[in-house]
Amino acid sequence: METVVSGIRPTGNLHLGNYFGAVKSFVQMQNEYNCYFFIADWHSLTTHPKPGNIIQSARTILAEYLACGLDPEKATIYVQSDVKEVLELYLFLNMNAYLGELERTTSFKDKARQQPDNVNAGLLTYPTLMAADIIIHKAVKVPVGKDQEQNMEMARKFARRFNNIYGLEFFPEPASFSFSEKALKVPGLDGSGKMGKSDGNCIYLYEDAKSIRKKVMKAVTDAGPTAANSEKPEVIQNLFTFLDIVSTKDTYDYFNEKWNDCSIRYGDLKKQLAEDIVTFNEPIRERIEEYMNNTELLDKIARQGAEKARESATKTIQEVREIIGFHR
Ligand code: TYM
Repeated sequence: METVVSGIRPTGNLHLGNYFGAVKSFVQMQNEYNCYFFIADWHSLTTHPKPGNIIQSARTILAEYLACGLDPEKATIYVQSDVKEVLELYLFLNMNAYLGELERTTSFKDKARQQPDNVNAGLLTYPTLMAADIIIHKAVKVPVGKDQEQNMEMARKFARRFNNIYGLEFFPEPASFSFSEKALKVPGLDGSGKMGKSDGNCIYLYEDAKSIRKKVMKAVTDAGPTAANSEKPEVIQNLFTFLDIVSTKDTYDYFNEKWNDCSIRYGDLKKQLAEDIVTFNEPIRERIEEYMNNTELLDKIARQGAEKARESATKTIQEVREIIGFHR
């Protein structure tokens, strides 16, 4: 069975971008693949979270994974920092990763701009840690959103480079995967291109109906179409992308027709969209609350997941040590 790996940083609650970009695929893939889904708590250290928040933040994501339908009987669900073998592979990969290529990645450049007082080496080597996460289990598919494409290219590059250096076909080259045909980018409702925590434009899975309605009704629009069948400007296209993701096809078609014949009323569209998001969120929200109240269960699931993940990681790292020459 093919192996799948993916992870999410515990830097707050999951939002709709995380869900439709990644978690929805996790839920589908767990039935068909050998899946490893983790919580990337080491990766979240690049922004220096407070010590008191680390464990609780990971529990939150775990509760949300479970609430979305991830099943520990089907997939291995674990916390990154419970599998130290990943660090050894990270070190080996760093020895063959070059300053120039790491500095050129757009995510590094963006972060360096966003946090100029904290351009740390962890940020620089973010892609090697991510590659280690993936190839430690020899994954072939990685469900991620569109924003991770460059990191995925780097992961393939590091896997290929390792194979070339030692003249082996050891690590498969991992491919990005999405349940939709193309990698997904869930837009923000503030007119920006992407929903993201640092952009403050998120709708969270844990968000209540009142707050969802408020955010959706505030979404940026324009003065309306002036000619039939015209192309949608980005802010309007964003709303339609949302309809496409959370509403029924009939709803999408209805508003699309209204756009095309210039009779669209954005207020109606937003009202419908808000209700569809509320309907989607409500059951997940209830389950998140149930899991969050059961710390014992969460910790047990994390312990069992760590054990299974370590088994797979240990096997790979022992082989890697041999290949590199660490054998007596
Ligand atoms: P992170 O924590 O920023 O985001 C988690 C996942 O959510 C997706 N995502 C989106 N997809 C579509 N539209 C959006 N607006 C949107 N916002 C977020 C991301 O693409 C991602 O799939 N580097 C990773 C975490 C990571 C990882 C890994 C992933 C660490 N190691 C190994 C896969 C494999 C990250 O920061 O994701």
